[in-house]
Amino acid sequence: MPALPVPGADMTRRKVTVVGGGNVGATCAQVLATRDFADVVLVDIVENLPQGKALDINQMGAVLDYEPNVVGSNGYEESAGSDVVVVTAGVPRKPGMSRDDLVTTNEKIVGSVTEQVVAQSPDAVLVVVSNPLDAMCHVAKNVSGWPKERVFGMAGILDTSRFSTFIAWETSSSVKDVTAMVLGGHGDQMVPVVSATTVGGIPLRDLVSAGRIDAMVERTAKGGGEIVELLGTSAWYAPGAAAAQMVSAVLLDEHRVLPCTAYLEGEYGVDGLYMGVPVKLGAAGIEEVVELKLSDDEQRAFEASAVAVRDVVGVLGTAA
Ligand code: LAC
Repeated sequence: MPALPVPGADMTRRKVTVVGGGNVGATCAQVLATRDFADVVLVDIVENLPQGKALDINQMGAVLDYEPNVVGSNGYEESAGSDVVVVTAGVPRKPGMSRDDLVTTNEKIVGSVTEQVVAQSPDAVLVVVSNPLDAMCHVAKNVSGWPKERVFGMAGILDTSRFSTFIAWETSSSVKDVTAMVLGGHGDQMVPVVSATTVGGIPLRDLVSAGRIDAMVERTAKGGGEIVELLGTSAWYAPGAAAAQMVSAVLLDEHRVLPCTAYLEGEYGVDGLYMGVPVKLGAAGIEEVVELKLSDDEQRAFEASAVAVRDVVGVLGTAA
């Protein structure tokens, strides 16, 4: 009797590489492994680190029911032909440091990583996570020479996750019913878009006093620093999961509208700069920058955030 066809047997699994086997990279690899729709390569220069973390994540699959398809490597050969590459490499913040303090060190790291990624996976989509995020997106775009649709950054999903969490607590609601969007640069001048924030469809401003909203906006903007103060290093669970959500949107061609750091050419009144804006993400990467109508105050805050991002981008290359 001929063998029965196995559904999906002729399909090749997609491939994701996560560069940087630190906390953020390993969490991203772990979340992707759990979702089980792609093979994952975890790359780090530290000997044995990516191999050890990959082995541990693979063994968790036997408990959580996903296939053990994570490979750890100190080189990029294993990453060849990746569909998406997530770059988390770089040094994280220590207490008292701003993300911008990392610019010169991480520029070199992200530049060198990007060169090696491009050599192995010339058709990939690149998701940048390293800080200072907006500036590192410029580095990845310049070094890769890839179109803006295929080079973008993770920040807005993380910043929005923080805002949404605070709103859920403040309103005693499920976080699943909070709809929010945090835009702008990934710094203390980020812009939580209160005018577009709802809980179960009800505008946030109808539920919470202006003073309490201001406090949540402030805590969101400083949300990364709050965790650095507690842990002595940057956050990783929410950042890793946020990057994995972007990978899913691309690999599964979801056409999701998510806040991501995209290269703007006139949208939101900003030209030639990476900033956090809502984008539609699908198989080709960014399919569209979605132009949300901001209030006058929000537009002004977005422009102030752009000035802060431009300052950091201006530092790129000056130490070389
Ligand atoms: C944060 C870092 C990852 O916001 O930028 O936690």
